[in-house]
Amino acid sequence: MYVYDEFDRTFLAERVAEFRDQVTRRLDGALNEDEFKPLRLMNGVYLQLHAYMLRVAIPYGTLSAHQLRRMAHVARVYDRGYGHFTTRQNIQFNWIKLDNLPDAMAELAEVGVHGIQTSGNCIRNVTTDQWAGAVPGEFDDPRIWAEILRQYSTLHPEFTYLPRKFKIAITAAGHDRAAIKVHDVGLRLHRNDVGELGFEVLVGGGLGRTPFVGKSIRPFLPARELLSYIEAIMRVYNQYGRRDNIYKARIKILVHEIGAEAFAEAVEAEWEAIRDGALHLSDEMIADIRSRFVYPAYEALEDEPAEFVAAMGDPRFATWFANSVHAHKVPGYSIVTISLKPVGAPPGDATADQMDTIADLADAYAFGEIRVGHEQNLCLPSVARRDLPELWRRLDAAGLATPNVNLVNDIIACPGLDYCALANARAIPVAQEIAKRFADLDKARGIGRLHINISGCINACGHHHVGHIGILGVEKNGQEFYQITLGGRADEQAQLGTLLGPAVSYDQVPGLVEDVVATYMELRATPQELFVDTVARLGVEPFKERVYAAH
Ligand code: HEM
Ligand code: SF4
Repeated sequence: MYVYDEFDRTFLAERVAEFRDQVTRRLDGALNEDEFKPLRLMNGVYLQLHAYMLRVAIPYGTLSAHQLRRMAHVARVYDRGYGHFTTRQNIQFNWIKLDNLPDAMAELAEVGVHGIQTSGNCIRNVTTDQWAGAVPGEFDDPRIWAEILRQYSTLHPEFTYLPRKFKIAITAAGHDRAAIKVHDVGLRLHRNDVGELGFEVLVGGGLGRTPFVGKSIRPFLPARELLSYIEAIMRVYNQYGRRDNIYKARIKILVHEIGAEAFAEAVEAEWEAIRDGALHLSDEMIADIRSRFVYPAYEALEDEPAEFVAAMGDPRFATWFANSVHAHKVPGYSIVTISLKPVGAPPGDATADQMDTIADLADAYAFGEIRVGHEQNLCLPSVARRDLPELWRRLDAAGLATPNVNLVNDIIACPGLDYCALANARAIPVAQEIAKRFADLDKARGIGRLHINISGCINACGHHHVGHIGILGVEKNGQEFYQITLGGRADEQAQLGTLLGPAVSYDQVPGLVEDVVATYMELRATPQELFVDTVARLGVEPFKERVYAAH
């Protein structure tokens, strides 16, 4: 965990005081909603369909038990008893009343969290692998670099009014869990032939109305040059990004329009001019940030302790273990994913009681640390294997041990028409209906890894373009319809899905998804061939033929 200093704490307290004053002026009518809007957005406060919503950043997805407990408290006291974990390592509170917002923010600020830069045309919360620092084979802990970027970008005067919002993601492992290829800038940490640490730099990825997979503009950037190079990218974007048309303002459009090569050349030219300046990271600066990450005091433990071996005799434990537990870099420890997708519940929601339970379990078994992944699940990054049986029993008792991670009912969904003012269609009920169709977990396991992503409109908050099965809500003559895409993926082989055929009505979606899955089961080359690989091998045609014949 990163340790904040007095400067951070003082700044946050002052910011809350400033917002409290703005809310008072809004409430007594001195500010109208239009005047209040830019002020609230600076603090992560949106106006949704029914209420204000507070978006709080969870830097690099890392939370302490203390912070999570405070979020539970905020959900319980100021909201309706739950919070929503999003695809961008944020948590959203949907129902906080305006006059309560400053108090809620003050309570969050006390534990070092806030909504600054979770909205607006600035560099947003830098995201990374939720298994950072714990997963075997990592080139370095990507959170150190995310923190360097966080400090650099927070309230950066030049980058507060970019043409459009800006998202940076970092991965440092072989398997990309941070979806770097669908971010404005994606950074892949690795080592070159002589063992130096550096980044492959990708630009111009993104979802939304015009989706693109990012393009690599530099195979290797020495890590200490990170800030000067990012600054060069930001300057080029700030200068040439379009401000005349909101739909063409993202960096992905600029990169597309001038070409990745020309973009790279402009960045390199800018970089040459500034690379040896103040943004050059010295070894001391990097060491200072590194030293503020405190790692658990791991013990020398057995990988197969008696408690664990005995529990494996219980098929329910063994199933959960196979589904939710991943190898750790330290022998005797595991990484545990906690599914926030119990069948039939809104994906990514956690109740205040569940948050408290997870905080308690993190304290008891996981060095007080919790992580948030872009799949809208939580994770305990370091659990001794001897504690897994006890942890599982307690998770199970709290309804948090559904063994469906990465399976067909581990669905990503945006809030859609249930909350969002921009939605064309419902997303949460679609996810709930589909999850129910695959509620039999044996059946879901037989299907294997399959990501379904649902967005209620073209803005793509549910990442539908990169779902193995993507579902997009559209509106036709005032009615909800859904376009289906197949074959998208968000990992190191990121790809946008291909449209299956004409949009279908709300009622038809679950049946159609069942048909797609049944077709895959028939057509897969072996039971091990993943859905997305079958689609890559055969294209969408065979699916289209069978599915639309049935409807
Ligand atoms: C008040 C609720 C929300 C509003 C008004 C909203 C608005 C938007 C808009 C307008 C875009 C498109 C941006 C663009 O074209 O550049 C967008 C994209 C996005 N939003 Fe949201 N959103 C909301 C909630 C959420 C939630 C709950 C999540 C996560 C579950 C989320 C995650 C994202 C992501 C990942 C994108 C992807 C865009 C990209 O890659 O370019 N948003 N959102
Ligand atoms: S995808 Fe559309 S409906 Fe869903 S949260 Fe984003 S803006 Fe709202």
